[in-house]
Amino acid sequence: MRNKIIIGNWKMNLDLADAQDLTFKLKTSIKAKRPTEIAICPPSVYLLTISNILKDTPYIKVGAQNMFYKEEGAYTGEISPIMLKDLHVEMVIIGHSERRQYFNESDKDINLKIKAALKFGFTPIFCVGEDLIIREKGEAEIRVKHQVLEGLKDLSSVEIEKLIIAYEPIWAIGTGKICSGEDANKIIKMIRSTVKEKSTAQISEKVRILYGGSVKSDNFKEHIKYPDIDGGLVGGASLNFEEFIKLIDLANNVHEQTQSHHV
Ligand code: 13P
Repeated sequence: MRNKIIIGNWKMNLDLADAQDLTFKLKTSIKAKRPTEIAICPPSVYLLTISNILKDTPYIKVGAQNMFYKEEGAYTGEISPIMLKDLHVEMVIIGHSERRQYFNESDKDINLKIKAALKFGFTPIFCVGEDLIIREKGEAEIRVKHQVLEGLKDLSSVEIEKLIIAYEPIWAIGTGKICSGEDANKIIKMIRSTVKEKSTAQISEKVRILYGGSVKSDNFKEHIKYPDIDGGLVGGASLNFEEFIKLIDLANNVHEQTQSHHV
């Protein structure tokens, strides 16, 4: 059975003091291993500070929000995988729709970034999702499938197994509009079958596929119950300590209920 995972994407939010404060609160509250994995992705300039705070807290992983695929060179403003390695980062968000939309990241760039992340031993959190026009045209599945295939290009099954994929419909990000559990599950099932096409049935059952887009504790109850939805990539709600903890609790509860059905 796949463990659920809740990942906080802080985006370009919080000042250093607030980022430290939120991290200390999480560290104090998450002292024991529970079934749900937890990760936070702070802005890159805070990564070292946050990693140091969490150094002896194995239950909260740290991820970066982006990474360049080159290892070094004249790329002003970029951050290389080697640099992230020094910051004790374990995961990297790749291909977030805000990177695609505002920074012109192409499917090709994203594929190169996924390969670079894997080469350096990071878990890529590979994001896909359609915009409103595509959804209204009824082409969401076609678009997302295309993004998945482009992202996975030339990856071996062993590499594919290491990915986390996040389905984040653009029209649901930061808008308060949520994609229903049923609709999200439908796309996530399609992503899983695409992963199967590119690897094996066994691997496709291991890859975690998350939902993201206006996730809050009051709407996520519905999503997290679907066995194919393995957790959430959470923006706004991850900046609020109580909300983030509630999301983790929701995922833990689903896990416990599933376990009790199996005994
Ligand atoms: P919100 O949860 O703020 O809608 O953001 C979702 C997201 O983009 C996470 O990566």
